This record gives sequence, structure tokens and C-alpha cells, in this order.
Amino acid sequence: MKNSNNQNSLSSISKNFRLQLVRFLPNLFLFAIGVTIGIIISFFLKSCNSLQATQFSHSSTKNVSSPMPFPIEKPKVCNSSLDKEGLKVVIQSSNIKHGVEMFNQFSNVEHDMTEFIQPSNFVQYDMKEFIFPSNVVHDMSDEELFWRASMTPKIHEYPFDRVPKVAFMFLVRGFVPLALFWEKFFVGHEGYYSIYVHSSPFFNDSDSKSSVFHGRRIPSKEVEWGKFSMIEAERRLLANALLDFSNERFVLMSESCIPLFNFSTIYSYLMNSTQSHVMAYDADSAVGRGRYSIHMSPIITLQQWRKGSQWFEMDRELAVEVVSDRTYFPVFQVLCKGSCYADEHYLPTFVSIRFWEKNSNRSLTWVDWSKGGRHPTEYVRPEITVEFLENLRNQKCEYYGKFGNHTNACFLFARKFLPSSLTRLMRFATRVMYI
Ligand SMILES: *[C@@H]1O[C@H](CO)[C@@H](O)[C@H](O)[C@H]1NC(C)=O
Ligand SMILES: *[C@@H]1O[C@H](CO)[C@@H](O)[C@H](O)[C@H]1NC(C)=O
Ligand SMILES: *[C@@H]1O[C@H](CO)[C@@H](O)[C@H](O)[C@H]1NC(C)=O
Ligand SMILES: *[C@@H]1O[C@H](CO)[C@@H](O)[C@H](O)[C@H]1NC(C)=O
Ligand SMILES: *[C@@H]1O[C@H](CO)[C@@H](O)[C@H](O)[C@H]1NC(C)=O
Ligand SMILES: *[C@@H]1O[C@H](CO)[C@@H](O)[C@H](O)[C@H]1NC(C)=O
Ligand SMILES: *[C@@H]1O[C@H](CO)[C@@H](O)[C@H](O)[C@H]1NC(C)=O
Repeated sequence: MKNSNNQNSLSSISKNFRLQLVRFLPNLFLFAIGVTIGIIISFFLKSCNSLQATQFSHSSTKNVSSPMPFPIEKPKVCNSSLDKEGLKVVIQSSNIKHGVEMFNQFSNVEHDMTEFIQPSNFVQYDMKEFIFPSNVVHDMSDEELFWRASMTPKIHEYPFDRVPKVAFMFLVRGFVPLALFWEKFFVGHEGYYSIYVHSSPFFNDSDSKSSVFHGRRIPSKEVEWGKFSMIEAERRLLANALLDFSNERFVLMSESCIPLFNFSTIYSYLMNSTQSHVMAYDADSAVGRGRYSIHMSPIITLQQWRKGSQWFEMDRELAVEVVSDRTYFPVFQVLCKGSCYADEHYLPTFVSIRFWEKNSNRSLTWVDWSKGGRHPTEYVRPEITVEFLENLRNQKCEYYGKFGNHTNACFLFARKFLPSSLTRLMRFATRVMYI
């Protein structure tokens, strides 16, 4: 009995032991897995740490005087299977970059929108090209261009020597017809102006390499004179010119425009002016208020409707507002077509509603409407005389300047001068205009 009792207790003990072993086995198994994972992880960490340690000790031997609690370097992630995804992304983005570079070689693209929107890992940000764009060609759509041009720095001090420039924006069909006269005007003033040319997209001749107009043609679209595409072209010119942060004043030139003063006079006049020059007046006539549509109300009322010459001059602040306008522009797009002549109403109305305080309401470009009709007078060779040019230069207007208000020239530019007037203009340039 005792024996059997003993045997019983023994067998119950071994049974218990086996039972506990069976219960314990999964735990042991898990423990073993845990230890294995631990060893693997510690192995990886060790190899990473040793990498960092060597880097850290390396940098600390360089500068013992500055005890650094943490290594400055970004912790290096060890290459594991997880990194493969990251690696793939890097390879892809470097492929994009490579593709863009190849595209650049063919088309001289400088404003790389892909890189701008999604900066890839291993590309140095080209600050020089960003601050001083050397090329006006790009592959941006109008939508992308206007979005980018609408950006303004919130920090108002420039981290570089900024020499404010005048952006001369030429809206032409092909070549700038009076190019020779303009060349004479610009010579010696490099760094104080930028040139942008919007011409027909079908025009594919190029200016001679020595010309100031060479390589200054922006990506253009077709323009029909007097049509809405005209304002689109004006805004496209503004947007392109805004990409250069040094451009401070923006002046629109037609193919028949000439300067009436030398570069230094015009530069001082514009840089010191506290106003923009967008012609705007209320014309109570068929060609003024008569072009207003009641459907523009309430965004634009009849009292706000203005008319004016399309040849404007404006400062950077206003230029940014013009390319960013998403309220008034669409109204004109839909309701000011055909005989409404949006180019004579959009800017005058928009500027008068929102920014009238800083507008002189007059144009800096002289033109002669005295003979009536639908087009202003066109000047040809015999009409270009010393007296004629002197008279244009001597007209006086109130001038609002940073260093005081006084009377000054009304007009810095004039139109319309046909190509045949070029020889006389060249002859009088020095004598009359000090160019
Ligand atoms: C070391 O650190 C000090 C203080 O941070 C710094 O002024 C000095 O230029 C550094 N020297 C070197 C060699 O990096
Ligand atoms: C990670 O992998 C990349 C690509 O193969 C290699 O260039 C790099 O040296 C590796 N880094 C480490 C820390 O092993
Ligand atoms: C330039 O345009 C003309 C017609 O508009 C076309 O015949 C010619 O092939 C074009 N030249 C180039 C180099 O694209
Ligand atoms: C520019 O023209 C003005 C007169 O309009 C003259 O006084 C000035 O000397 C000229 N500047 C140069 C650099 O020729
Ligand atoms: C602005 O006017 C001042 C005073 O007349 C003159 O000294 C300065 O040169 C002008 N600025 C520019 C950029 O011409
Ligand atoms: C320009 O016109 C607006 C009305 O559209 C007027 O309020 C403003 O005073 C004018 N500015 C100047 C300088 O005449
Ligand atoms: C110039 O005129 C503007 C507008 O009338 C005025 O605000 C400003 O104080 C004047 N500047 C000077 C120096 O008189």
C-alpha cells in the first residue's frame, strides 16, 4: 500500500513534471525565438553603432573643444530588406532627374518643375539659377507658370546683392522691328534690365547671337490683335519676368514703341517712382461704358468699369497681383469678348478696383489718337524731326517720387513708329535723346 502509495506519488510527480514540461515547451520555444531575434538585432545595431562611433570619434578628434552630446550626422540606417523600397524610390527619382537633364540638353529648360515640386534626394538645389535665372525657356504649362510666379518671399531682406532691374516686355509678332534702336538704348547698362519677348509660336527665326534679344523669347501662344489672347500674352510676359527676383519694374512694349530718353533717365524715373502707371479713366461712351456687361455685376459694377491703353508700367507688387488674380480675370474671360476689347479694360478696371491708391492712372507711353479712327497715328520717316521728338520729351506731369513730388516728363516711351523711321531715329538718338 505504502509502496503502491509511493509509486503512485512518484508517478504523479513525473506526470506533473511532464505536464509542466508540456506547458513550458511553447514558452521555451518562444524564448528561443526571442533570443535569436535579439542576437540578430544586436548584431545589426552593433555594426551600425560601430559605424557611427567611428564617424563620431573621427569628428570629435577634429574638434575636442566642443563636446557634442549627440553626433550631428543623421543616423545611418543599415541596409536591410526594408531599405529596398527606399532604394527603389531613389533610383526612380534619379531616373526622372536624368530624363529631365536629357530634356534640358535638347530644349535648354532651366525652370525644372519636376524638381521644384518633388525635390529628389541627391540633387543640390541650384540656388544661383533660382536667384539669377539665365534662361527664359522652360517647360511649364501656363497653370504651373502662374502658380510659381505668384510666390513672393515673406522675408523682405534678400540673401544676395539685389540690383533692381527693369523688365522690358516686348509683345511682337516676330522680330522686334526697331531692334537696332533698342540695342543702342541698352548698350552699357547690362545688369540693370531684363528683356522678354512674346512672339508668334510659329515664328522660328532666331536673333543674331550678339543681339540683346537673342534667347529672350519666352514660350508663347498665338495672339490675335484686339482679342482676349492679348491679355493672356501680357500676363504670360509678366509671369515669366516675375521668375527673376531682381526685376522690380515691368514695362510692356509694342513692336512700334521707342524710348524717348536714355536708359539712365528712364531707370531713375521708374525706380524712384512710388506709383504704377496703368492708364485708367471712366469713359461715358459707346467705346467706354458701352462695353460693360450687366452680367459682370456684382463682381464688377458699371461705376467700377474703366478704360485705358494696354501699354502699362507697374511695380513688382502689382505685377504679382495681376498674375494671381482669379476673381476679375475669369469674369473678363467669359464676358468681355469680341468688340469688348478686353486689353483696353481688364487692367484699368482691375487696378482701379483693387490698387487705385498706387496708380497714376496715366500711361508712360505716348500715342496719337488725334486723327480719329480705330487706330492711332503711325509715324513714318518724314515725320520724325528734332522738334517732334523734343515736343514729346517736354510734356510735363506730376511725378510722385520716393524723394519728393515734382513735375517730370509725362512720357518715357512713344508709339507707333514704323520700321521706315529707323534711320532717322538712329540719327537723332544722340543729339535729341542723349542715347
Ligand atoms: C571647434 O568648435 C568651436 C566652437 O564650436 C569653433 O569655434 C571652432 O571653429 C571649431 N574648430 C574646428 C577646427 O572645427
Ligand atoms: C546601402 O546600400 C547602398 C546601395 O547599394 C550603398 O551605396 C551604401 O553604401 C549602403 N550603405 C551601408 C551603410 O551599407
Ligand atoms: C520654321 O517655320 C517654317 C514655316 O512656319 C517651316 O517651314 C520651317 O520648317 C520651320 N523651321 C524650323 C527649323 O523649325
Ligand atoms: C541722359 O539724358 C539726360 C537728359 O535727358 C542727360 O542729362 C544725361 O546726361 C544723359 N545720360 C547719359 C549717361 O548720357
Ligand atoms: C532716386 O533719386 C535720388 C534723388 O534724386 C537719386 O540720388 C537716386 O540716384 C535715384 N535713384 C535711382 C535708382 O536712380
Ligand atoms: C485714379 O483713379 C481713381 C478712380 O478710379 C481715383 O480714386 C484716384 O484718385 C486716381 N488717382 C490719381 C493719382 O489720380
Ligand atoms: C508725395 O505725394 C504723396 C501723395 O500725395 C504723399 O503721400 C507724400 O507724402 C508726398 N511726398 C513728399 C515727399 O512730399
